[in-house]
Amino acid sequence: MIPALEAVDLVRRYQLEGVAVEALRGVSLRIDPGEFAAIVGPSGSGKSTLMHLLGCLDRPTSGVLKVNGVEMSGLSDTELAELRNRTIGFVFQSFHLLARTSALENVALPLVYRGVGKAERLSRAGQALESVGLGHRMGHRPSQMSGGEQQRVAIARALVGEPKVLLADEPTGNLDTRNGAEVMAILDRLNGDRGVAVVLVTHEQEVAAHARRQIHVRDGLIEKDILA
Ligand SMILES: Nc1ncnc2c1ncn2[C@@H]1O[C@H](COP(=O)(O)OP(=O)(O)OP(=O)(O)O)[C@@H](O)[C@H]1O
Ligand SMILES: [Mg+2]
Repeated sequence: MIPALEAVDLVRRYQLEGVAVEALRGVSLRIDPGEFAAIVGPSGSGKSTLMHLLGCLDRPTSGVLKVNGVEMSGLSDTELAELRNRTIGFVFQSFHLLARTSALENVALPLVYRGVGKAERLSRAGQALESVGLGHRMGHRPSQMSGGEQQRVAIARALVGEPKVLLADEPTGNLDTRNGAEVMAILDRLNGDRGVAVVLVTHEQEVAAHARRQIHVRDGLIEKDILA
């Protein structure tokens, strides 16, 4: 089986005012199709840095990352963006939606970069919004929606391209318990019914318990990797 994501010895060093910060110090990790994994660990341990690398939003200082068997280091930025667009959905703690744009258009946006025609874009975006229970909010802008609704729009946007992997960095971090539970129910369904591999970062044990695998990160390294 080709892993959905495969990282070998990833290092990510940041330069900050002449001082090197080693956020990741050699992380190897394999995520198989259909997996559900939680990344946990203290603040500053490198979780978001790892997620950005896995999601091809950033490049490692050294090490290898393969997405669906394709090594990212050999790709130009454009090719990398295309690979990401076709295989990976990303959900952020703070939603990252376009403020002046309707829910429907926010969700349709990734399809623009794929060259999908307008009618099909809007129809697929509508279906993605229906699938997260927001069929009645398509014309609303982010400021006209609750936090939970905005996060569900972000999930619909991540799903509209039918990715094999959904990466979510603290997707419930800005939500209250009820909205957090709703978001987790959507992720459970995606993984269980559609077989999308889900990797999420969380500080909440209750959220991490949805995953079958718990990856503990500390000081830029994987400290424990536990299959439930
Ligand atoms: N752009 C940057 N420039 C310099 N240092 C950075 C940068 N981004 C992150 N770091 C540092 O890298 C380390 C890991 O950061 P990261 O954001 O990955 O942590 P995290 O585990 O996601 O923390 P949290 O739980 O607080 O979100 C931290 O020490 C952080 O200060
Ligand atoms: Mg973080």
